[in-house]
Amino acid sequence: MLLFFSARRSWLDGLYERSYRMQMGEVHLPGLDLYMVNQPNLVKQVLVGQATDFPKSELLGDALRPLLGDSIFTTNGAQWQRQRDMMAPAFAQTRTTVAFPVMRDAVAAMLERLQQLPAGAGHDVEVEMTHVTADIIFRSIFSVPMEGPDAHQIFAAFARFQALAPRLMLPALFGVRWLVLPWDRWRSRRAATEIRGLLEKLIRPRFDAHRAGQGAGPTDILASFLSATDTSTPPAPFRFDELVDQVAMLFLAGHETSASALTWALYLLAKAPDIQERMHQEVVTVLGDRVPEASDMKAMELTWNVFRETLRLFPPVGFMARESAQACPMRDKTVKAGASVVVSPWLIQRHRELWDNPDAFDPDRYANDQSRESLRNAYLPFGMGPRVCMGAAFALQEAALILSSLVREYRLEPVPGHVPQPVGRLTIRSANGVELTLHRRIPSEQPAKAAP
Ligand code: HEM
Repeated sequence: MLLFFSARRSWLDGLYERSYRMQMGEVHLPGLDLYMVNQPNLVKQVLVGQATDFPKSELLGDALRPLLGDSIFTTNGAQWQRQRDMMAPAFAQTRTTVAFPVMRDAVAAMLERLQQLPAGAGHDVEVEMTHVTADIIFRSIFSVPMEGPDAHQIFAAFARFQALAPRLMLPALFGVRWLVLPWDRWRSRRAATEIRGLLEKLIRPRFDAHRAGQGAGPTDILASFLSATDTSTPPAPFRFDELVDQVAMLFLAGHETSASALTWALYLLAKAPDIQERMHQEVVTVLGDRVPEASDMKAMELTWNVFRETLRLFPPVGFMARESAQACPMRDKTVKAGASVVVSPWLIQRHRELWDNPDAFDPDRYANDQSRESLRNAYLPFGMGPRVCMGAAFALQEAALILSSLVREYRLEPVPGHVPQPVGRLTIRSANGVELTLHRRIPSEQPAKAAP
């Protein structure tokens, strides 16, 4: 209980310096057996080698189910495998190239919004990063920009759901579910019902048209899901409710994580003007004043390393919760059947024995052999094994485009006296926002706008 109360603002508050040094930790309370696994071989055992013995924990599924139903994020076994196989074509490498023009349109809309902001004042960049990433995933799923009253209602209801989620998830994780206020549970369910209703309105006409065999339709993620079939005889497509589950999950997983990482990347860049200047030079050298192409993204090595280092220091998914299906030996202990087994990228990627200078922002570290070794053993912002993130290539491309577009046009500066406070919510966010000043670069530094 003490542990829960010390962590109730954020699970990050429940961590101690020794958490960043241990190989494996454990907590036992009435109704709770929890193991925290940091050592790379044990992490691989849980997420890769014996992944089927450590299915996704029911605890978190509980809080997310009203919104995500039986989505791929929470299912296990044959049901999960069927969903993964049916969703894979939407994320194949070639689809990422298809997604690039969609991302570029959303980023152009972001740059226009930023131009409307008063110059020289501090802005909470988390707000804009949430907007642009939500717009990108919305356009990628539905082929329409996130505009109009319905889209804004979905966006607002998602924000309410996200704010409430930790109040449901933390008590579940700490085995004190009875501490969830009925009022919070009700508000979370109401937000979930509202979001699903609005998504159904968008999906229904496309679903009916597809079933009626009408027209080819756009080549977006929804189209890929609509035409996916499983391996049963005869092959079955997603039912309508299954489709809504997957779309709701994708909208959430597809923007909440990227928005968190991009916000921290901008903050870290603002705090490191020398790295920001080098990145600006790189972007101007590669892109000049051209409209960016998908092939440009790979050419910006420092930009990649800035994002890679941000994902190390601020992994959006701070912990992954599994359940031990049966009693299992681990180091000198036996993990009980039904126990929670938690793998935390936040701890592993800042681990004192797994990384040199673990708390420092150093995008150049990946040039040395020692860090490359750490990268292989102790770096998992996208998870690993069969449940590895399906959207990793999508997220990396989107991040390279957003960061390079912003750094090309703006110089970012911290707002004096404002220090963001990281908190573990659905993702790692800041309790007090991330305020930065965006200075438009003077014309000689700033590339001219090219025609699309
Ligand atoms: C920086 C951005 C992102 C990060 C750090 C991230 C991280 C993760 C992690 C750690 C997992 C595994 C969770 C676990 O094993 O418990 C995951 C799963 C998943 N992610 Fe991402 N994600 C990001 C962006 C995206 C995007 C943009 C999409 C979709 C467009 C996406 C779709 C998914 C899906 C579908 C799964 C479930 C895979 C499964 O269970 O089989 N993610 N993500």
